[in-house]
Amino acid sequence: MTTTTATPESTNQPEAQPQSKSGVHGVDRAPEGVETVLILDFGSQFVQLIARRVREAGAFSLLVRPDTPIEHLREHHPKGIILSGGPASVHEQGSPRCDPRLFELGVPVLGICYGMQLVADMTGGTVEPSSHREYGRAHVDVAAAGELLKGVPGHAQVWMSHGDRVTALGAGFEVLASTSTCPFAAVRHVGKRFWGVQFHPEVTHTPQGAAMLNNFLFEICRCKGNWTMADYMRAECDRVRARVGSSRVICGLSGGVDSSVVAALLAKAIGPQLCCIFVDNGLLRKNERELVERTFHEHFDIDLRVVDAEKAFLDDLAGIDDPQEKRRRIGHRFIDVFKDEAKHVDGAVKFLAQGTLYPDVIESGHGHSGKAANIKLHHNVGGLPAELGFELIEPLRMLFKDEVRTLGKVLGLPDEIVWRHPFPGPGLAVRVLGDITREKLDVLRECDQILLDEIHSAGLYRATSQVFAVLTPVKSVGVMGDGRTYDNVVAIRAVTTDDFMTADWARIPYDVLARISNRIINEVRGVNRVVYDISSKPPATIEWE
Ligand code: XMP
Repeated sequence: MTTTTATPESTNQPEAQPQSKSGVHGVDRAPEGVETVLILDFGSQFVQLIARRVREAGAFSLLVRPDTPIEHLREHHPKGIILSGGPASVHEQGSPRCDPRLFELGVPVLGICYGMQLVADMTGGTVEPSSHREYGRAHVDVAAAGELLKGVPGHAQVWMSHGDRVTALGAGFEVLASTSTCPFAAVRHVGKRFWGVQFHPEVTHTPQGAAMLNNFLFEICRCKGNWTMADYMRAECDRVRARVGSSRVICGLSGGVDSSVVAALLAKAIGPQLCCIFVDNGLLRKNERELVERTFHEHFDIDLRVVDAEKAFLDDLAGIDDPQEKRRRIGHRFIDVFKDEAKHVDGAVKFLAQGTLYPDVIESGHGHSGKAANIKLHHNVGGLPAELGFELIEPLRMLFKDEVRTLGKVLGLPDEIVWRHPFPGPGLAVRVLGDITREKLDVLRECDQILLDEIHSAGLYRATSQVFAVLTPVKSVGVMGDGRTYDNVVAIRAVTTDDFMTADWARIPYDVLARISNRIINEVRGVNRVVYDISSKPPATIEWE
């Protein structure tokens, strides 16, 4: 079994060493002219939520290191700055701090939890450990709404999660709200354009949190909230064109959302300079290859190379039943096939396009660490070796998954692609348990198609996060007509999840399950029993291998 730490999708894509050239000082940057709110990341588990809330409100957010000097902050022309929460205490040696000149920027600053404590500490206030960690729901009483709490009821629920707390404020502060245990739940500094909240406005347990963040963005920072995905697309196309020049770019297209959106964006930006390579490894779902070919030929004028490598992959996998060994072999074969095909692309190929998403970038250190932002690929062993020498183009590296789907729509990709469930790079190899044969794969493909068909017909595809069939190596006895059968057991897996790190089994209605089971048993030869997997993750994983 395997674990994952990132939003996955079909990652039948090559992995490579990023040599990112994006942004200032190796940091990503908003498209030209787009109003930006910078978030200094002090390590809060909610930091991505803050970034998303800001974007949902229509301003572009970027996460940066907490100690970024103001000269670098200034280059982003921020409309506002948010200091996130974080697990540290301002009293700890080496706890993260921001540039003490932060307020010289003249930009409004909102400190959340640790961010507020830090500013209190920097401005003559006192921060002390409390006897117990305050965690969970609390209620604030608003004393002075001002701009930040405008429209918030006088008594409002908020979510607290902190150990330290501010016990005294320096000169120039005003209290906006307090709770029974926290006298400084929301504050502002009259001279410094600073607002601070001890609670977390970014989580849904603070029902007025979105209103408060909007107040910060629109009342205080005077954002216009006019960021749109169409602007992003145009800016990103310009950026890609400027970087690529006349060189060619290759892109491993898997048919998953991320690689499809990358391909569509590059097709728009550089047209025939793009070459997409789709490797048919024989481990795909029914009609998958046709769907990708059809979509890209119908919607885009694209140089798409489909490599039929089924035999090579299946030969490599013959007799192998260990899941990690399957992954290793698939990864290595993928590199060889991809490398071979890349050699046939005419013209100078300098770049490789990859669908790295913002959560991957954040988790690998905001692009500062120099580490590969390849968490999404960690399931796959291998990847493209660095000596191939491609430079990486990662046009999605500033987007969250839902934003990638929006971009896909703006680019004209059909819903069928934009809303696809993720599909693992090793494909059906990890869904035929034990050793793999072409016959078993075919049986599974039939079952999987019926399953997805019924899920679509029942209107459940968008309500579920991943749905698939598993061919187990178990045979069981059945009766069909007058005869006794001894055939395979197929398991159905359907999960709901936000991040694929934890997942719950989907409560598919019994009558839908009944139809799926009936159809599979009646229509697929070699299957006489269907079972439904009711395990959550953890402790089970989503895939069975
Ligand atoms: P698990 O089974 O670890 O899966 O709960 C979490 C998510 O990751 C996908 N997955 C993979 N994706 N290569 C991939 O590209 C893999 O080897 C792999 N294994 C699991 C899985 O489909 C689910 O979405």
